[in-house]
Amino acid sequence: MKPRITGRSMKTSSLIADAEFVLELPKAELHLHIEGSLEPEHMLSLATKHGIKLPYKTLDDIRAAYQFDDLQSFLDLYYLGAGVLMDEQDFYDLMWRYLCRCREENILHTEMMFDPQTHTGRGIAFETVINGFTRAMGDAKTEWHQSSGLIMCFLRHLAEEEALQTLEEAMPYKDKILAVGLDSAEVGHPPEKFQRVFSRAAEAGFLRVAHAGEEGPAQYIRDALSLLDVQRIDHGVRCVDDPSLVDELARTKVPLTVCPLSNVRLCVYDDMKQHPILELLEKGCRVTVNSDDPSYFGGYLCDNFNALAKSLGMTEQQAVQLARNSFVASFLPEEVKQKFLSLL
Ligand code: HPA
Ligand code: ZN
Repeated sequence: MKPRITGRSMKTSSLIADAEFVLELPKAELHLHIEGSLEPEHMLSLATKHGIKLPYKTLDDIRAAYQFDDLQSFLDLYYLGAGVLMDEQDFYDLMWRYLCRCREENILHTEMMFDPQTHTGRGIAFETVINGFTRAMGDAKTEWHQSSGLIMCFLRHLAEEEALQTLEEAMPYKDKILAVGLDSAEVGHPPEKFQRVFSRAAEAGFLRVAHAGEEGPAQYIRDALSLLDVQRIDHGVRCVDDPSLVDELARTKVPLTVCPLSNVRLCVYDDMKQHPILELLEKGCRVTVNSDDPSYFGGYLCDNFNALAKSLGMTEQQAVQLARNSFVASFLPEEVKQKFLSLL
């Protein structure tokens, strides 16, 4: 089946982007935790399959639990939920479902994060995780030319030594991994804790990204850039606390993979109306829109674009610029970027 790439013409105007416009816009997603796409129905069915006891009996119990005060309150449930993923087919199915969603939402390219330590720490082999994911990615490529890559994240609440071990474990699968990243609890786990890990990853030829400035201070963004030598910052919204950093980001065009619904659900902002993404866009920062953990935060990529239209009055022109940024900020080879950009 072919992906949907054409439809209503993509002429830019000052109209507010509506849902149809957003759906038909060719897009890339660069900040998506694949474990965060585990839908409640899938979680319950895997718990039954493996005889795992969860603190929820029904879908309503799960939905009721998804009320978060901050990043940590989310992470506690996110790691619990990921505990139902046991065999290669589970990882395949999780990946397959998200890639089908990409096809439905006209996400032509996706760079997805995964957390191997969440699984290896429970005795699941690295090989099981990566083989399940990459087999689904291969099938989606064959079936509808879905373009995708994997970003292996280190859990920053764990020790540097464990991240180094994970990097070693990943070496035989280097060709299947596009980049390394850094996620989990940010405050108290600054970029400098992983400086040696990232320098070793760079020596091994991995591209690099890091969550910074989600809950942590603007200084963590500066440190991720200078100490970890990352090519992109995940979230990065706290840069607004440091106007000279915003100027620097606008000048250097280091991409920020921003996740609006996530930021509201994790109380980084009380209301979407306070979200700074469009201000950053207008200042010339290379911001992109992403869903982070869509099954936990109430929406996939189109829902995030639609929330910006509804609460911030995002225009069609701004939506096109955000979609353009998503391809430019990707790790695709230049000629492939150009091919996707020509569709806009
Ligand atoms: N922040 C940090 N770690 C994460 C997130 C996030 O939003 N989602 C999954 N792991
Ligand atoms: Zn994230």
